[in-house]
This record gives sequence, C-alpha cells and structure tokens, in this order.
Amino acid sequence: MSDIARTAAVVLAAGKGTRFRSDLAKVLHTAAGRTLVGHVLEALRPLGLGQVVVVVGHQADDVAASVTDSGVDGLTTVLQEEQHGTGHAVQVAMPALAADIDRVMVLPGDTPLLTASTLEELLHAADGRTAAMLTARLADPAGYGRVLRNADGNVSAIVEHRDATDDQRAIDEINAGMYVISREHLVHALDRLDTGNDQGELYLTDVVEILAGEGEEVAAVVTGEDEVAGVNDRRQLAEAAAVLRRRHLDHLMTQVGVSVVDPATTHVDVDVEVGRDAVLLPGTILERGTRIGERATVGPNSHLTGCEVGPDATVHSTRAIDAVIGASASVGPFTHLRPGTVLGTKAKAGAFVETKNATLRDGAKAGHLAYVGDATIGERVNVGCGVVLVNYDGTDKHHTVVEADAFVGSGTMLVSPVTIGAGAYVAAGSTITEDVPADALAIGRARQVNKDGWAARRRRRQGG
Ligand code: UD1
Ligand code: CA
Repeated sequence: MSDIARTAAVVLAAGKGTRFRSDLAKVLHTAAGRTLVGHVLEALRPLGLGQVVVVVGHQADDVAASVTDSGVDGLTTVLQEEQHGTGHAVQVAMPALAADIDRVMVLPGDTPLLTASTLEELLHAADGRTAAMLTARLADPAGYGRVLRNADGNVSAIVEHRDATDDQRAIDEINAGMYVISREHLVHALDRLDTGNDQGELYLTDVVEILAGEGEEVAAVVTGEDEVAGVNDRRQLAEAAAVLRRRHLDHLMTQVGVSVVDPATTHVDVDVEVGRDAVLLPGTILERGTRIGERATVGPNSHLTGCEVGPDATVHSTRAIDAVIGASASVGPFTHLRPGTVLGTKAKAGAFVETKNATLRDGAKAGHLAYVGDATIGERVNVGCGVVLVNYDGTDKHHTVVEADAFVGSGTMLVSPVTIGAGAYVAAGSTITEDVPADALAIGRARQVNKDGWAARRRRRQGG
C-alpha cells in the first residue's frame, strides 16, 4: 500500500461561522460558484488519498448532503454534535479512520484558495517525519494563529491571536490550519489537549506544542499568501471570491485562448467552461456550469446561469437561465431566455423577446418584442414583432406548435393550444384560436371599415 493510500484527510466543517452573521452554515456560503468546503474538497480530490472524513455539526444534514454530492472518492462524514473547538473536531473524527490509515491530513473547511499542488508539498514535507504544517507570512496576520519558533528556528508552538501577547502578535508567520501528522502521534497529542485558552475550547493547534515539547520535529512549509486565507466573515468571502474568479479568468485567457475584455467586470464561476477564441465582453456573469462554445461572443452585460451556448453564437445584453443556445444563434439585446428554452442553429431571439419552455428550431427567428412560452417553433419560422404565445388560460399552461417555414405576422396572438401548419401564413394582427392547415393563410381579425369624411365632421362639431 502506498503512503497516499494510507493517508486520510479530515476536513473540519462543523463550525457555525459566528462572524458571518448568517442563518446558513459558513462552509455552505459560495465563492465563484462553489461552496467554501467544496473548494477545499476540489483541492483534495487530485491527491487520491485513501480516505476523506468531513466533520459536520452546524446544519449537519445540509453540509453532509453538499459534501457527499461533491463526488470525492472515499468520502464519509462524522457528526460533531457540539462544537468544542478544532481539536475536539479531530478527536471526533479519529474513530472513523480505517485501520490501515497511518497519517492524517487535517484541513479547515473555510480556506477556499488552497490548491492541490500546495497540499502535495505539505505531504512531501511530512514524508519520514512526525508532522508537517503549512504556514505563510502575511502583511496583515491579524486573526490567525501565530507560529512560534525556538532558537534553532524549529516550530515550537502556535498561539491564537486572541491568546497572544503583543510581542507574539508582532510575528507575521501564521498558521494556515493545515497539517499532516502521523496517526499515532496525533492520537497521543489529542489525548493531552485541554481548554486552558481564551475560548475554553480544545485547540488543534496545541497538538503542535505537545509534539514539539516531546522533541518531535514539526516541519513547516511556508507558502504564499494566496493559498491560506481563511474566510471568517463576508468581507473575506468577497476577497476570496475575487481571487478565485481571477484565477479562473487567467486560466481561460492563458490556457484556453479566451478574450476577456475587462476581467474586473467579468464574473465567471469556477465550473464554467469557455471555448477557444470566444470573447467575453464587459459586464458578463457566467454561472452554474454554463458552457460557452468556440468563437462565441457573450456580452456586454449578459448574465447566464446553467446555459449552453454553441460555437459562433452571439449573446448580447441578455439574461438566460437553463437555456440552450445553438451554434451561430443570435440573442439580444435585452432578451430574457427562461428555463427550457432551446434555440437551434442560426436561430434568433432578438430585442425584447422573452422565451420559456420553448424550442426555436434551426433558423427560426423571433426578431423583436415577442413572448414565446410553451411552444415548438419549426425550422425557419418567422415570428413577427409583437407576437404573443397566449399560453396561460388562467388555470393551465398549453403548448403550441408552429411547423416549419410558417410565417406568423406581427401583432398576432396565438391562443394556445393551436397548431400552425407547415408553410402557412398568419395575417398580422390575428387572434388565432383554431388550427391553421399547412400552406393556408389565416386571418383572424375584424374586417376594416373606413368612414369617409368622419374626421372632418368631428373637427367641425368641435368648432375646429
Ligand atoms: C484556526 C486556527 C488558527 C489558524 C486558522 C487558519 C485553531 C484553534 N486555530 O482558527 O491557528 O490560523 O484556523 O485559518 O485551530 N470547526 C469545527 N468544529 C469546531 C470548531 C471549528 O469543525 O468545534 C471548523 C470550522 O467549521 C472551520 C475550521 O474548523 O471550518 C476552523 O475553525 P475556525 O473557527 O474558523 O478557526 P479560526 O479561528 O479561523
Ligand atoms: Ca477560520
């Protein structure tokens, strides 16, 4: 068995996150489209450790469901019913470790900037040693535990900010809260923790002092500021999210070949994929697994959630949710694509068009000011300006079909359910309540009456 298979990760995610002032457990808050604890699990995933145990407590069911959904192999959760500190959380996790585990990596659940390569370094530093920990030198170390080193430069203890003296607070090397410790030594030290600190908690950090005091070497890997940030409040959440977004944009620009015209106003979640030579214009927000095809242009000012955009499409000033936009399709400006919208190749949903649960097949066009709800619009159909799919009768929604090559004149109400046959024409201003056969012309409006001289007589009556 490899060292990696005999190493388990324990992720601490039971805390309430008091400083967030939130009804939602802290680790479930999202940054760049993924929960805080989800980011930690993503950093862990490529390591392929033998076991991953997530300690849950506050909102345990929701946190457990979310981490189980993350799809990390070998992941289980344990319940820390009352949260008596990080040391207590690890004590609770230990009995869940498999018999063949002989090293434990402990990670906080609130450090979303962590990367797999830094964890690899930490594992490497722990090889052949009792313990290794991650530290960083911060310009502003406030709030973190400080790393104390002895005259030889070896780590001797960690002191929490709130328990630290002024001299200790002047130390700029902080504890990232990430450790790899031999199981045997961890069990031994966990047994010796006490609550003699400002919070009356069992601090995991005291494990370091206990081991160092017994002559064990605790190796310290000093890493960059960007990796270690713990998110304890909403300002730190916003800062971490900005770093995560920027990292993802950098990846898209440098590794994929995406033009991001203004990174500062382009918010792309970490699970969004964008194809080569796509262009993201300012004010673009791409969320929840959206995928953008090659050479597509999105923005300015487009907000897409759970969407798929085909190659060469353009999506200008649009809000779209759970919509599929075909290759070379054209959307916007000022268009609202609601869930269940499917636009085919070269289809168009133009200015002030709203769609919902609607398919516009290849080449179908709704150019302006239309509502297309609960409808199947065939290939090359023209939906004129101001057409409304009257899909709701006050009780139920109904589906309408417009077959290929039909022409629906401007200002038409299609009172669903109706079927417009292939190649048929519907005269402008019609209210259609019955099916129209293929190739027919339907006119559903009152015949026009012209009253000669009426306007002149009215003006005379009014003395004009
Ligand atoms: C902790 C460290 C600190 C370090 C910092 C790095 C301790 C005592 N302090 O402080 O040295 O600089 O992380 O970010 O370890 N949790 C539980 N159960 C509990 C308490 C906490 O699961 O009973 C979880 C929290 O949900 C959180 C993580 O442990 O994900 C860390 O707890 P937190 O309260 O954020 O610790 P810090 O004060 O940031
Ligand atoms: Ca923290």
